[in-house]
Amino acid sequence: MAITENEAEAPSSMRYLQPPGGSKVVAVEKPGAMLVDVESIPWTPFPMEGTYFKLLRLDEQNGGATVMFKTVAGAPTAPLHKHVGHLELYNLTGHWGYAIGRVGPHHYMYEPSGTIHEPYNETEEFTMFAVMRGPIAGLDENGVVNSIVDGETLYQLAKENDAVGHLQRVPPLD
Ligand SMILES: [Fe+2]
Repeated sequence: MAITENEAEAPSSMRYLQPPGGSKVVAVEKPGAMLVDVESIPWTPFPMEGTYFKLLRLDEQNGGATVMFKTVAGAPTAPLHKHVGHLELYNLTGHWGYAIGRVGPHHYMYEPSGTIHEPYNETEEFTMFAVMRGPIAGLDENGVVNSIVDGETLYQLAKENDAVGHLQRVPPLD
């Protein structure tokens, strides 16, 4: 339901703006709203040879993140892994795949939480936009977790690379 000017009570943490055109609806800008030129964010090496990322947004509540990924041509295949939270991705360029099928440019993929799989690479570079709703766990050949990549992992790596200037952390709890 739309918020009208009469109903709106503005907490100090929100900005209420009157949209142009004489509308009676009050626009609401909430804390955490973001707008960033992705081209201005440098690529940070991902903890996997030949793969780089840009951390667009940190999902502190779920241990996830919104990320751009780039894997260079000829990079080794990503290891067997488990999605602790679900993942959605939109592949922008290049080809790669899982047993479910070959991913190409402008393909969307949904990986439910609990998915365990191992991708294959082709010989070209590929790039994608991905929303991780939780950590990704690397598994050894016995299915034992041997690594965890979550939003915090990506934040710390990106911070070391001066690639988090667009992000604001949620203040710590008292
Ligand atoms: Fe996956």
